[in-house]
Amino acid sequence: MVRKLLCLTVSCLAVALFAPVAVAAPDTPPPVRVVPQPSSIVTLPGQAFTLRPTTRIVASGGAADTGQYLAGLLRPSTGYRLPVTNTGLPGDIRLDLGGPSSLGDEGYRLTVTAVGVEIAAHTTAGLFYAVQTFRQLLPAKAEARTVQSGPWTARGVAVRDTPRYAWRGAMLDVARHFFPVAQVENYLDLISLYKINTLHLHLSDNDGWRIDINGWPRLARYGGSTDATRGPGGFYTQDDYREIVRYAASRHVTIIPEIDTPGHVTAAQASYAELNCDGVAPPLLNPGWSSLCVPLEVTYKWLDDVIGQLAALTPGDYIDIGGDEAVNTSPADYKYFIDRVQQIVLSHGKKLLGWHQIEAGDLTGTATAQYWGTAGSADDEALARVAQQRGNKLVLSPADKTYLDMKYDASTPIGQDWAGYTSVSDGYDWDPATFVPGVADDVTGVEAPLWTDVFPTWHDVEYMTFPRLPGIAEIGWSPASTHSWADYRVRLGAQAQRWDVLGVSYYRSPEVPWAG
Ligand code: ACM
Repeated sequence: MVRKLLCLTVSCLAVALFAPVAVAAPDTPPPVRVVPQPSSIVTLPGQAFTLRPTTRIVASGGAADTGQYLAGLLRPSTGYRLPVTNTGLPGDIRLDLGGPSSLGDEGYRLTVTAVGVEIAAHTTAGLFYAVQTFRQLLPAKAEARTVQSGPWTARGVAVRDTPRYAWRGAMLDVARHFFPVAQVENYLDLISLYKINTLHLHLSDNDGWRIDINGWPRLARYGGSTDATRGPGGFYTQDDYREIVRYAASRHVTIIPEIDTPGHVTAAQASYAELNCDGVAPPLLNPGWSSLCVPLEVTYKWLDDVIGQLAALTPGDYIDIGGDEAVNTSPADYKYFIDRVQQIVLSHGKKLLGWHQIEAGDLTGTATAQYWGTAGSADDEALARVAQQRGNKLVLSPADKTYLDMKYDASTPIGQDWAGYTSVSDGYDWDPATFVPGVADDVTGVEAPLWTDVFPTWHDVEYMTFPRLPGIAEIGWSPASTHSWADYRVRLGAQAQRWDVLGVSYYRSPEVPWAG
């Protein structure tokens, strides 16, 4: 068109006649390589959908927010207007909340053909997950934040997809090293691309306290003033935390706040002398194990304030009270403590979550335990069975499978190895239904914790998270019948192009055939 407008002269006519004809790039859609693998996906031969400058996103009523989210993903790279409208024509992308209730709380249907994209779900979460799948059908450069050249073609598919587990989690330890709101939001963007729906924030530990609590200002201001490598630390104001919760909700992620007790409390005890049995505050970063003073009544007044404020700030069902590695708390004190803290959590209208050691206390059937034992660990498995007998749910985070702080192999420059090395295939190749024998019916899902004791930088966080987190996401979402390392590694390899565009620092494991 530009050439035509300029071609008003004879010489230009010659150029137009003899110049090689500009051929549009062929519409070659990328192969269908989606993570997590949908429960059912059929490619439609000969069908493909191409986004055009005139494409509309038809999403009315309750679907409009997800329509705007999709438009926000695709406008920067395509440069197209992609208006979100109430009505459309063939060739548009349609998001419809009128999907059958059999799709459940998170399922969706997605049909991509030459005449348009049809997304149906029963909930906005389902629409959101359909968008995550659709986005992976487009070329990776669709993720760019600056205008790229098309074509924007997705292969024709018919997908019907529902998750295996309700709880698909990641955990970020912001206590050992603090990460500001923008980085947590970046993490939320990356984990929700893989249909992770829970982000557990480890908000306190020996090395730092990261959430401001009214009436106890020194917790964050003093207890949060350093970190595990003696850096400057930091903390979230309650408005910061509200913003994280709001952003997470926009990505269909529930925030679970954890205040680790009765151990892992040096930062709190350094901030308030009265939280210590001897009335003397230890120094910040005091080495060794710590314990709250279980007989002191102020311990529970303080916990009531902390848990009450977190409960008010947190829309999710759970408050996580930690409960792991209470090495300096006697078994009798531990049991008493767990009972008291459970009453506090329940009194604020929430359910108790903790590491599986909380099963040593007397828990109600509403509690959930997070299993972090390794394969075949008899003591840990015994506690998982206690959980089962009580009707408590289990979230599986086996340290030798899901702990993202473990090194990939001996050559990994950063990380831990106490649970062994966890290669990408190790992290993927296990089944939550059989990992702890006899508790399959009580497993509500999986979670991948990233402890940051030795990770001060965001680069470190991404490098240890990717490429392993998508494997945990797939274990949580995809049916066991689709589980295949041989197939998964190829689909995972295709994510590299996306991460390159998104600027994610990932580990290029030699186990994976990386595309790009
Ligand atoms: C833990 O890794 N201490 C839960």
